[in-house]
Amino acid sequence: RYGARQILTRMRKKFLEEENGEIPLKVFNSEEIYEMELRKIFSKNWVFLGLESEIPEPGDYVVRYIGNDPFIVIRGSDGKLRALFNSCRHRGTMLCINDRGNASTFMCPYHGWTYNNKGELVGVPFKEKVFERLDVREWGLLQIRVDSYDGLVFGNMDENAPDLQDYLGDFKWYLDLLFRAPGQMEPVGPPQRWTADFDWKLGAENFAEDRLHIAVVHRTLQSYGFVGKSRFGSGIETPDDVTVNYVRGKDGLPVGCIGIRRSERETSSFLGYPREEWKSFKEGSVSRGQWEVLRRAINAVFTLFPNFSGLVSADSTDSPFSEKPRVPFHTFRVWNPVGPGVTEVWMWTLVPSDSSPEFKKRVAEVTRATFGAAGNAEMDDLPIWRRVTRAAKGVFAERANTALKGGLRGVKDLGTCQEWEGPGLCRPTQFQEESQRTFWTRWALEMTKDE
Ligand code: FES
Ligand code: FE
Repeated sequence: RYGARQILTRMRKKFLEEENGEIPLKVFNSEEIYEMELRKIFSKNWVFLGLESEIPEPGDYVVRYIGNDPFIVIRGSDGKLRALFNSCRHRGTMLCINDRGNASTFMCPYHGWTYNNKGELVGVPFKEKVFERLDVREWGLLQIRVDSYDGLVFGNMDENAPDLQDYLGDFKWYLDLLFRAPGQMEPVGPPQRWTADFDWKLGAENFAEDRLHIAVVHRTLQSYGFVGKSRFGSGIETPDDVTVNYVRGKDGLPVGCIGIRRSERETSSFLGYPREEWKSFKEGSVSRGQWEVLRRAINAVFTLFPNFSGLVSADSTDSPFSEKPRVPFHTFRVWNPVGPGVTEVWMWTLVPSDSSPEFKKRVAEVTRATFGAAGNAEMDDLPIWRRVTRAAKGVFAERANTALKGGLRGVKDLGTCQEWEGPGLCRPTQFQEESQRTFWTRWALEMTKDE
């Protein structure tokens, strides 16, 4: 009576049609739901794989995952980006067990079939004697679609999905703020990775602007001074220096949420970059409206459906006793589902390529100390997400609904921002849960499609 189908029917009727804001608890820990997510969401949408700047030269590659499927994301000798399924066509062996590298060819360790960096099968031992009838042109590595925007590389398993540009739709306007205006963004070292027993959607919905948890879960960060008090801003009394956007793709579906806090002062801010680093932001690279937002932004947090999130926030330190400069932290991450209630987090620290070496180093230190695998902010959130996932594991859990109802009745009273040039629905407050509901609307639409 309470299987996955029943849960999804409940969501379609109650959450989508009646807009009651209720999410069944069981969606956070269910084998059935997990399997459906892999097929209905992760096999059909554009999923973030990495950055072009991670693989600048021909032959450069990184191995990345969508769910449990491994892909070699590689720049071929022809300069083209590809995402090759990391499995030999002969008996299926995973070809590449490195995380990254540069290769002109991959030779399978089992029987020696060899592929070039465009995925073509170029060598088969005993070809003439044994594999006379094998047409090597038909047995190159399988590939998925790959495309990039503002240096961000995405993959899509669905041949019929819309192009990346259409998928991103209005969200491009906001990606430009973070990935175009500061010039090319580069990672400081390889991404950090950790696996923990929490559901991927808890991370995604939290970064779709859960402003309310900050005052409770992250209280210590502020009281000890890891983040600037006024700027991290937990007080519900915060003036209307806040905007949140619910942004749609070209297909009309919500594709992402971004919360941007604006400086109440008229002075420039540029996401809390120290003044000497403002030169990274190039005025001509974005529109006037985008530039104005950036000039006053002190914090941005987003989730792009399904599982790419980011947080840039002003005025942080790795230690309240540190003499070193306060800088923003820069965490960009993927919540990759690897099992029911189990997520592998990939966390990149990205900085503008032309910022100073000291700034890059400092941002990396501060980001690791706050949002790294053992960062103090990460250690606030993660045990809580594990507790939700743990509570969702059982059978009685199937009867429970959770109440994502913040701002539900008063949504109209929240108003829309005046003089906001960006696309999407902009609210002058982050104290609601409409932004998370945007994520769940897309999730529910995808999960109930063709049911
Ligand atoms: Fe790769 Fe046989 S499995 S060559
Ligand atoms: Fe948090």
